[in-house]
Amino acid sequence: MYLLLPLGFLWGVGSSAYQTEGAWDKDGKGPSIWDAFTHKKGKVFMNETADSSCEGYYKVKDDIQLLKELKVNHYLLSISWPRIMPTGIKKEQVNEKGIKFYNDTINSLLENKIIPIVTLYHWDLPQVLQEKYGGWQNISMISYFNDYANLCFEKFGDRVKYWITFNNPWVKGYETGEHAPGLKLSGIGAYKAAHHIIKTHAKVWHSYNKTWRSKQQGMVGISLTSAWGEPVDLTSQKDIEAAERYVQFYLGWFANPIYSGDYPEVMKNYVGRKSAQQGLGMSRLPTFSVQEKSYIKGTSDFLGLSHFTTRYIIQKNYSALKGPSYHTDRDLVELVDPKWPDPGSKWLYSVPWGFRRLLNFIKTQYGNPLIYVTENGVSEKLQCIQLCDEWRIEYLKGYINELLKAINDGVNVKGYTVWSLLDKFEWNKGYSERFGLYHVDFKKGNKPRYPKASVHYYKMIISANGFPNPREVNPLTTHMEMVTEIVVPTVFTLCILISAILLMFLLRKHN
Ligand SMILES: *[C@@H]1O[C@H](CO)[C@@H](O)[C@H](O)[C@H]1NC(C)=O
Ligand SMILES: *[C@@H]1O[C@H](CO)[C@@H](O)[C@H](O)[C@H]1NC(C)=O
Ligand SMILES: *[C@@H]1O[C@H](CO)[C@@H](O)[C@H](O)[C@H]1NC(C)=O
Ligand SMILES: *[C@@H]1O[C@H](CO)[C@@H](O)[C@H](O)[C@H]1NC(C)=O
Ligand SMILES: *[C@@H]1O[C@H](CO)[C@@H](O)[C@H](O)[C@H]1NC(C)=O
Repeated sequence: MYLLLPLGFLWGVGSSAYQTEGAWDKDGKGPSIWDAFTHKKGKVFMNETADSSCEGYYKVKDDIQLLKELKVNHYLLSISWPRIMPTGIKKEQVNEKGIKFYNDTINSLLENKIIPIVTLYHWDLPQVLQEKYGGWQNISMISYFNDYANLCFEKFGDRVKYWITFNNPWVKGYETGEHAPGLKLSGIGAYKAAHHIIKTHAKVWHSYNKTWRSKQQGMVGISLTSAWGEPVDLTSQKDIEAAERYVQFYLGWFANPIYSGDYPEVMKNYVGRKSAQQGLGMSRLPTFSVQEKSYIKGTSDFLGLSHFTTRYIIQKNYSALKGPSYHTDRDLVELVDPKWPDPGSKWLYSVPWGFRRLLNFIKTQYGNPLIYVTENGVSEKLQCIQLCDEWRIEYLKGYINELLKAINDGVNVKGYTVWSLLDKFEWNKGYSERFGLYHVDFKKGNKPRYPKASVHYYKMIISANGFPNPREVNPLTTHMEMVTEIVVPTVFTLCILISAILLMFLLRKHN
């Protein structure tokens, strides 16, 4: 589909603090739960850490050159909470060096005409808050985070107009323990942490609305991750319902409170029933009071969407006796088509059509909200020596094509972010998966960056503001096609004229 987008559509790339900055204990930064988690052995592939990672802390100028090279409109970055508040608590300590670092980064982006989109929380909770108070298990995080967010609005909000409170708050670290803080509170911990995160998001949105919006005129949203769930058997009502349940448990868990005031009905029903079968007095899914529902509803100026892949879904009942678990609460099984390309990560199959369906689902479920795609991209597993990431070009082509179709369907998407600028630390997968448009040589001390082929491809999309008309790419074809364009209609018109004259002659003869 060759289609250009309206002017003002934002094309960009993203990154996050913990995954790229390094300098984990420099210039007064406090440790985060990810520093503590990676410093324990046996948690991350090859026991890697992000202590130095891409050394992004020291390479802001270099990385902005890469952004200029790509000609992006925006750069999505996150602020490390413990870098500017080492213990997470404002009244205990504010780290001026940390503030200066982000202030300078934001200024450099703006000097280069790159719009900063800033995430306040991309998983790196200050470790002190985890140790002392249990992190997101504790309701008191709301006020600590709100203080932090307000400090960011105060210091940077005159220049930052796009804020994201939380990136992908799906808190695996409280469910399976695969992520920091590494707690295995299956079926309980994640629901509770998410409940507090949703309330925190709402609190921060209200703070902005009340204190900062009139002066700063920016927007505050949240960034949610979801795959698309497609029923295996489109004629089976059970599969159709199971596929919808999959998306409701994934995206709706957070989006429904924010857009409609409460958890999805299906989630309340399923977790409630399983909890009762497990002999619990109340549902493991917490409830919002009437006041909380109306306080939370409508607290997003835009929806940030992270999307990577799709699953086929079938219904399957799990016995409640197996114990509480988010996964079995859903009564479904996720499947993949072995024909789908899976270039890198095991979970990441390229299924572009799922993207359009998810975007349309959001449009109908949440009243056609303003959307910025905050993460979309693909990894590679093998070391790609020639920097020849053709499958990434194929992935981006397919997904951007479906994005354009969704925009044609009337979905209100105003920006798209490739995940990610650089190869970086991939959480419990260490450095074994590479998402970057730029290759990073982690073996060398200064972590040099090299452009992959996808840099040139994405650059072309950005400069054309969509898929360029093939004629505009190759000047020779332009010439030839223009000739055809003129000749064909002319010959065609001549034929019609001649036929008309002949017909007139014939008619006259008959008369
Ligand atoms: C990681 O640490 C664990 C625990 O100390 C150890 O058993 C394992 O061999 C380490 N792996 C590597 C690749 O060093
Ligand atoms: C941040 O940058 C702005 C704009 O240059 C400047 O006015 C302000 O003083 C800076 N603040 C800090 C803490 O560096
Ligand atoms: C929650 O945090 C507060 C401090 O804000 C602390 O006093 C309280 O003990 C914490 N609760 C738990 C269960 O850790
Ligand atoms: C947001 O702020 C505006 C202006 O102060 C106010 O009119 C509006 O009621 C606020 N919205 C909410 C939901 O509180
Ligand atoms: C699965 O559970 C649902 C809801 O409780 C029930 O209606 C259905 O009959 C069950 N299916 C099977 C095969 O047990």
